[in-house]
Amino acid sequence: MASRDQLIFVVFSLASLIFSCSTIDAQLSPLFYARTCPNLQAIVRETMIQAVRSEPRMGASILRLFFHDCFVNGCDGSILLDDKPGFIGEKSALPNARSVRGFEVIDAVKSNVEAVCKATVSCADILALAAQDGVVLLGGPSWVVRLGRRDSTTASLTAANTNLPPPFANLDVLKSMFANKGLTARDMTALSGAHTIGFGRCVNFRAHIYNDTNIDPNFAALRQATCPASGGDNNLSPIDPSTPILFDNSYYQNLLRHRGLFHSDQELFNGGSQDALVAAYSFSRLLFYGDFVAAMIKMGDISPLTGTAGQIRLNCRVVDS
Ligand code: HEM
Ligand SMILES: *[C@@H]1O[C@H](CO)[C@@H](O)[C@H](O)[C@H]1NC(C)=O
Repeated sequence: MASRDQLIFVVFSLASLIFSCSTIDAQLSPLFYARTCPNLQAIVRETMIQAVRSEPRMGASILRLFFHDCFVNGCDGSILLDDKPGFIGEKSALPNARSVRGFEVIDAVKSNVEAVCKATVSCADILALAAQDGVVLLGGPSWVVRLGRRDSTTASLTAANTNLPPPFANLDVLKSMFANKGLTARDMTALSGAHTIGFGRCVNFRAHIYNDTNIDPNFAALRQATCPASGGDNNLSPIDPSTPILFDNSYYQNLLRHRGLFHSDQELFNGGSQDALVAAYSFSRLLFYGDFVAAMIKMGDISPLTGTAGQIRLNCRVVDS
């Protein structure tokens, strides 16, 4: 006998499935591989379970990889391409170098998928599924992932350098960088809740903890202890100090206490347009989850390659010739 919660969940899942199939952008569909690779989701999940079990941070790293893929010419797996002679990819862009990680995990997922569904599933879709698993495995919400993206045959170092928001950005810059991707300020504030998991490097928050005034002095002192005024650029701190491997809403609770790690985080609660929403998310984890899921689906819809555009790479790191 199914419990009431299970029934509600099934109804909700069906409703979101129908909804997601009937939106204007009908190119992507949760059922895209239903016939060609019916066990896809389970294969991705199984590999992600192992990866997150051996290193919980990996859930965060893969989520960020998906964000950095989607914001650079759409969710097309372009971030996964390695540099090689005559081909410069996105990995050496300023926001990515020494920073994005998890490529080996995507390789492992891809090879497990290839073993069962040969030359069928794109790296871009694998990343979309793996990112959702990362969130779920760290205690966050799940959603119906829309599929059918194909892989790029190109990458853009320039676009990676200009389209990815820097941690030094103010609220107006953040809003306009997300607007350029068709995402609202509300989407941006919800997506930023991804900073409830994972770690950041000293070089990215040094100016904030030494020079900004909208920061709790105790928190600044705590972070200065492992992030010196000069040197130690790659020293890591948790972005959410209380629960760095739990996908909850404490990111927003931290912002209310002026404990944002990056300048850009604290911009969301600094007397501006997003203050009320940050406060609302800090009170209601479920409000945050609902908006986060909606915004993740929107982000996953950014400029996909579909139909016969692009290709299905066999190795996510190289373009098939
Ligand atoms: C709003 C603008 C954003 C800025 C300025 C920003 C900036 C950053 C920076 C600087 C780091 C640390 C990188 C390092 O120090 O090496 C980071 C980490 C992270 N970001 Fe963002 N981010 C933003 C939005 C997002 C979004 C939309 C997502 C996903 C939906 C996301 C997910 C993450 C995650 C999960 C980490 C931790 C990764 C890990 O531990 O490997 N961020 N972000
Ligand atoms: C803080 O601001 C001062 C004055 O603008 C500058 O010289 C210094 O480099 C800044 N420190 C950091 C860590 O950004």
